Amino acid sequence: MSEVCSTRKERALSPTPPHPLLGARVLVTGGAGYIGSHACLALLEAGARVVSLDNYSNSTPEALRRVRALAEESCAARGAPPPSLDVVEGDLCDLPALRAALRAHPVSAAVHFAGLKAVGESCAQPLRYYHNNVTGTLTLLRALDEAGARRLVFSSSATVYGDPERLPIAEEAPLRATNPYGQTKLTVEDLLRDLARADARWVITLLRYFNPVGAHPSGLLGEDPAGPPNNLAPYITQVAAGRRARLQVFGGDYPTPDGTGVRDYIHVLDLVEGHLAALARGAGGGEARAYNLGAGRGVSVLELVAAFEHASGRAVPYEVVGRRAGDVAACYSDAARALRELGWRATRGVDEMARDAWRWQAQNPHGYRSAQEALS
Ligand code: NAD
Ligand code: UFG
Repeated sequence: MSEVCSTRKERALSPTPPHPLLGARVLVTGGAGYIGSHACLALLEAGARVVSLDNYSNSTPEALRRVRALAEESCAARGAPPPSLDVVEGDLCDLPALRAALRAHPVSAAVHFAGLKAVGESCAQPLRYYHNNVTGTLTLLRALDEAGARRLVFSSSATVYGDPERLPIAEEAPLRATNPYGQTKLTVEDLLRDLARADARWVITLLRYFNPVGAHPSGLLGEDPAGPPNNLAPYITQVAAGRRARLQVFGGDYPTPDGTGVRDYIHVLDLVEGHLAALARGAGGGEARAYNLGAGRGVSVLELVAAFEHASGRAVPYEVVGRRAGDVAACYSDAARALRELGWRATRGVDEMARDAWRWQAQNPHGYRSAQEALS
């Protein structure tokens, strides 16, 4: 008992150790996007100096204005120095612009979110996807190499596992792409593996996301898809909000407990914490190490619908229709490697994801746009 008390007392008296990223200068590509905006905020709160580079092809600078405001508020509340956020509008594929940005805003590391991500669109426009995601990454790597900033965290995806042979999926599982978007992720993973092997100065971490859901608890940052959402969670919130009549559930005859598709949903705040852990602890050593970022738990479409109905207090009408081409029955992670090597694991459950995503939707019915912009 007395030992416990003295440990508690020591803990209360000892100052919080500084965050390992305090003062780090980090480039965030795609900083205005769904995950990038949450990552910018988390990095600023950790005391990092952040440079966002985005061409706003799928986002708006308003997201970064809100990131800045939230970071200022949180730093002031903790008595921490004001956040350092530089915002650059630029394209990944534009080498002179990248060089100029890195000269004006030197960094020692990059978190690379920028990319196009719609599977269906990638099938219709493969050249655009390869150019943006592969050429864009090559161009970024060249600029980072020239600037001597050789620490990189890359946004990969569980899509690189294709139709998994075994569940849960561990990082050693075979890799295969089933569409051009997935192939761009696999191609970039391959090139980063080659780069890490060839040049020991590079420290590269590949993060394979499962299904990011949720929003910042302030209700000020969230996912803002243009047009009808391709993904389940934003579709559900728009149905709950009355913007869409009903959800179509793609397939009710999968070999899963309730017949609907099973995925590994992960709160976006957990996801960005995984990036901070990777930036701080990524090891290099000639290997671009891959980590699954998932909660390690399968949730069906109907279970997610129920979580959103509970969070919103509204009914989410749905109809079960045929399977969507290319979908797999179930996909969820074995996230043990990230816990073992990065000290990271997801802590937030689907109820919290649904609550935060619903708050974002309710407070921002038109996303980052005003109602008037949405009409025009
Ligand atoms: P997002 O579209 O919200 O964000 C991507 C950002 O990158 C956008 O702000 C966009 O404007 C910017 N961008 C795109 N091409 C660019 C270019 N050439 N130059 C500069 N900026 C550019 O997407 P997100 O959901 O935040 O995803 C971030 C990353 O995570 C992507 O690489 C995506 O493939 C990957 N990922 C996402 C998911 C998901 O479900 N959201 C799942 C797995 C992997
Ligand atoms: N679903 C519906 N109705 C919808 C949308 C989706 O029933 O309107 C179902 C799908 O059939 C699937 C589940 O909901 O069973 C999840 O679908 P999402 O489209 O939200 O997510 P996916 O797992 O199909 O794919 C997403 C991204 C991919 C990424 C993958 C892993 O779209 O790019 O997660 O990270 F690779």
